[in-house]
Amino acid sequence: MKKSWLFFLLILTLGITSCAIYRKTLVVAPLEIPGAKHVNMRFCAPCHKERVESFEGSTHARLSAKGMEKAGLGCSICHGPGSLHMEKAYEPDLIINPDKNPEICFRCHLDKKAEFRLQYRHPVLKGLVSCSDCHDLHGRDARAWTLTSFSDTNQVCFKCHPEQRGPFVFEHEAMREGCTVCHKVHGSVNDKLLIARDSNLCLRCHFQTQLNSARFLIGDSNHTGRMPEGSCFSGGCHTAVHGSNFDDHLRY
Ligand code: HEC
Ligand code: HEC
Ligand code: HEC
Ligand code: HEC
Ligand code: HEC
Ligand code: HEC
Ligand code: HEC
Repeated sequence: MKKSWLFFLLILTLGITSCAIYRKTLVVAPLEIPGAKHVNMRFCAPCHKERVESFEGSTHARLSAKGMEKAGLGCSICHGPGSLHMEKAYEPDLIINPDKNPEICFRCHLDKKAEFRLQYRHPVLKGLVSCSDCHDLHGRDARAWTLTSFSDTNQVCFKCHPEQRGPFVFEHEAMREGCTVCHKVHGSVNDKLLIARDSNLCLRCHFQTQLNSARFLIGDSNHTGRMPEGSCFSGGCHTAVHGSNFDDHLRY
């Protein structure tokens, strides 16, 4: 008896969560364009076939607004209602282009706005970098990487930061896990967008072995007395954190 109830509950939760994943009804009001109506994204396909095809199945494609649950909002969440633009494609102002206007994204991603206001951040609010430089908004996954390969993220970064690409004679293996293991990319309270400004950044992967109260190793190298000088990457120590051409201990 007890077992069958648990089973019933499991099916119920699975049912509820899968519906929620299928369509998410938003509380924010949809964008508006005077005189235009929302249309199903199928209507955009004759002229923007590739974008519609790659967009289908993405998180954003599943969003809808109250009263529009069935059709979904599709492209409208970022471009506004498209009925007038469909009729007069070359007329200006009949469709919204959110490039360089992060406010469209902030309507739903308010927390990201806060990140871009931190002391150290990518200059998105100044219009020097836009969300779409790193995010593929018409792709199945808007993130900058696929979930199986973090090195995809790095490719996005190399467009503007070629120095970190190398190739380096002495590579730092950490780079294979992606730039985001050390950087908080939108914004950070730490200089250089770092996750942590001190040695803790490195000690997450390089374990410290305490021999006694005064002596300790990192890896199998004696670091006693070295750490008080600053972080691992300051004071002429491991300054070439992204890779070095001169030294296998990552120095310039
Ligand atoms: C009949 C063909 C046609 C249909 C249907 C159509 N578009 Fe377009 N769209 C165009 C053309 C042509 C342009 C390029 C206009 C230009 O170069 O100024 C364009 C441009 C755009 C732009 C860029 C506008 C800009 O100012 O940079 C967006 C965004 C867009 N379309 C979205 C959509 C969406 C969303 C839909 C579906 C609701 C849609 N389009 C349906 C033909 C169409
Ligand atoms: C999550 C937001 C978002 C959604 C949803 C979205 N787009 Fe866009 N779209 C953008 C942004 C940002 C740009 C400008 C940067 C770029 O070109 O990627 C853009 C640009 C465009 C352009 C103009 C490209 C150019 O050459 O200037 C077209 C056309 C377009 N989108 C069509 C579509 C269609 C069709 C859909 C639905 C299938 C759609 N978009 C859904 C954010 C979005
Ligand atoms: C109408 C609301 C809305 C708008 C506008 C919107 N998003 Fe989203 N976005 C969402 C929701 C909801 C999710 C699902 C995850 C969540 O709950 O945060 C999401 C997920 C994402 C993700 C996570 C990756 C993924 O594919 O799931 C990224 C990246 C993203 N949005 C970027 C953007 C950018 C950049 C813009 C502006 C061009 C934008 N979004 C506009 C609602 C929106
Ligand atoms: C310099 C590149 C870059 C820019 C510019 C950028 N992002 Fe991101 N974004 C990333 C990376 C990398 C991640 C994944 C790592 C992370 O979560 O910090 C991410 C993750 C996200 C996520 C998913 C976070 C989650 O909780 O899963 C959202 C939503 C998002 N970005 C929205 C935006 C919006 C909105 C903008 C523009 C206002 C923007 N991003 C601009 C690189 C960027
Ligand atoms: C479209 C270009 C562009 C892309 C793509 C980009 N960045 Fe940036 N990045 C910039 C600009 C511009 C600055 C600000 C430089 C400044 O303020 O001098 C910056 C600053 C930084 C800084 C701080 C540098 C400093 O000296 O303070 C770091 C770290 C950084 N980016 C990492 C990344 C990572 C990681 C990615 C990939 C997820 C990425 N960037 C993608 C353009 C870009
Ligand atoms: C192992 C941690 C780590 C990884 C992984 C990492 N960075 Fe960094 N990055 C740092 C540290 C630490 C600094 C600050 C160095 C300093 O202050 O001297 C930095 C600084 C930067 C700067 C500022 C310029 C400079 O060299 O001081 C940029 C740009 C940057 N990183 C981009 C990237 C990109 C792009 C990636 C991915 C390809 C990446 N980083 C991966 C730790 C890392
Ligand atoms: C994501 C995990 C990760 C992070 C974070 C990380 N590393 Fe590494 N690092 C590695 C791996 C893996 C190796 C190669 C294996 C080894 O030698 O331990 C390596 C190798 C090194 C080496 C070469 C060691 C040798 O004996 O040849 C140095 C030096 C180094 N890292 C310094 C740093 C510094 C400084 C930081 C912080 C800015 C840092 N690492 C952050 C994973 C990481």
